[in-house]
Amino acid sequence: MTSQSLPKLSPAFFTFSCLLSLSVAARATPNFKVRAVSLGGWLVTEGWIKPSLFDGIINKDLLDGTQVQFLSVKQGKYVCAESGGGTIIVANRTSASGWETFKLWRVSETEFQFRVFNREFVGLQNGTTDVVAVSTTPGESETFQIVRKSGDMNRVRIMASNGFFLQVKKTQDLVTADFESKNTTWGNDDPSVFVMSIVGTMQGEFQVTNGYGPLKAPTIMRKHWATFITEPDFQFISSSGLNAVRIPVGWWIVSDPSPPPPFVGGSLEALDNAFTWAEKYNVKIVIDLHAAPGSQNGYEHSGSRDGSQEWGQSDENIQQTVAVIDFLASRYASRPGLLAVELINEPLSPGVSLDSLTKYYKAGYDTVRKYTTSAYVVMSNRLGLMDPQELFPLASGLQGVVVDVHYYNLFSSIFYSMTVQQNIDYVYNNRTSELNYVTTANGPLTFVGEWTAEWRVSGATKEDYQRFAVAQLEVFGRASFGWSYWTLKNVRDHWSIEWMIQNGYIAL
Ligand SMILES: *[C@@H]1O[C@H](CO)[C@@H](O)[C@H](O)[C@H]1NC(C)=O
Ligand SMILES: *[C@@H]1O[C@H](CO)[C@@H](O)[C@H](O)[C@H]1NC(C)=O
Ligand SMILES: *[C@@H]1O[C@H](CO)[C@@H](O)[C@H](O)[C@H]1NC(C)=O
Ligand SMILES: *[C@@H]1O[C@H](CO)[C@@H](O)[C@H](O)[C@H]1NC(C)=O
Repeated sequence: MTSQSLPKLSPAFFTFSCLLSLSVAARATPNFKVRAVSLGGWLVTEGWIKPSLFDGIINKDLLDGTQVQFLSVKQGKYVCAESGGGTIIVANRTSASGWETFKLWRVSETEFQFRVFNREFVGLQNGTTDVVAVSTTPGESETFQIVRKSGDMNRVRIMASNGFFLQVKKTQDLVTADFESKNTTWGNDDPSVFVMSIVGTMQGEFQVTNGYGPLKAPTIMRKHWATFITEPDFQFISSSGLNAVRIPVGWWIVSDPSPPPPFVGGSLEALDNAFTWAEKYNVKIVIDLHAAPGSQNGYEHSGSRDGSQEWGQSDENIQQTVAVIDFLASRYASRPGLLAVELINEPLSPGVSLDSLTKYYKAGYDTVRKYTTSAYVVMSNRLGLMDPQELFPLASGLQGVVVDVHYYNLFSSIFYSMTVQQNIDYVYNNRTSELNYVTTANGPLTFVGEWTAEWRVSGATKEDYQRFAVAQLEVFGRASFGWSYWTLKNVRDHWSIEWMIQNGYIAL
């Protein structure tokens, strides 16, 4: 990016910023640079970080938010919510995309609800056998059993609440719940047999807890929290040249020990332990609200059930989130280990508007300041199209504010075919420009709160990884607050700074 192409600041911003530059002394750079690592996949589950956490779930490929499509074997057509929802379910499409995709809500190991494109749920119309997508609140008649053929798990029949199977009638295009026979040869002549394709999956906290269910989830999660991160990890962090951890937490921690189902209690005790260990090994903590109520981005790592993004759409929701910050700030403000509170991670534009985010950040900031004047308040920039300085007008009026930017050479197509050297040049040139743009003399502090030495290059050598890591450490080391690697532990080696340090890929 050249400076010419950068978005221009409004004149109003300059006026505001000049007035406030008088108070800049109080926003001085901290006396040390943060070199942190996120404890990803610990108190907020992400299946790709530790897939084995899901191993004990029955039908573990059918979790909340899984996107499925159904092909009628007899008609050779896909099931479709006509108009995307709000009316009948048909089976007359030759190809499948949005209207032919159903998002699962898991009720039990075998019972599911199906959410359509326009967010209604598939169900039976008023006690008839007609299958429609009109209800916005799923109940018994919106609950179906998926019966899988043994040995061919994607060949399924779907039983409705009336005890009959769904079938596709040739004469109409309609799907009805009136197929009687309980048995089948699973042949292509059976109008109640469908081929189910899974086209999207989610493996977050909602999925793992609801997947295990209320009887098993508490034991599984407590075991995970007690074993995935332990005291020796803090000793390792401290002795490796890192000086802080960024700990993702979920909003349900506020109701520990009995959060709303399916979430389970115990993450608060784990966070308490983290403070004890951090203080023992002289490691600082950034508490990071990674999952906000309603989900701020629809990703699995924000606790979303089915990909919906509903955070910030009401004052009530924002107040509920402020209450989580209040709880965390009041509990940990006096702890010497507390370095910062990150108010929300990766709110996604345009679903999260700048207006509601600004309202929340102001209220969240004031809440942290009720308890501490020394903790930094971290504000994550929005993902998606936006001006990286969009929080500056808000931050200029506040003290101890840090803007968090995440730099991955991964998720944009510009990286898909980059060579090793192009990736490294991108860090030295383009990331430097981007970081310079947000790191200003009188502006908020800056934090590269997530980065990794993983990239799209395949077949890279150890030396390639080392050079890529060195480039990022050098450039991100110029962020005025510091940086945080994503993440400490991961089955994918390059995403684990523990593995990268132990195997000589990263030296601090
Ligand atoms: C279904 O019931 C609702 C309310 O009970 C009624 O308004 C609607 O007309 C009924 N629809 C049909 C198709 O019977
Ligand atoms: C599918 O069936 C519905 C209901 O009969 C009809 O309105 C619609 O036009 C059909 N669509 C296609 C692509 O055949
Ligand atoms: C299906 O059910 C019918 C009647 O209940 C029975 O006669 C038949 O043998 C069953 N077929 C299979 C394949 O189990
Ligand atoms: C990176 O920066 C260079 C020059 O500074 C520019 O020519 C190039 O387009 C940028 N690359 C991308 C992918 O934006």
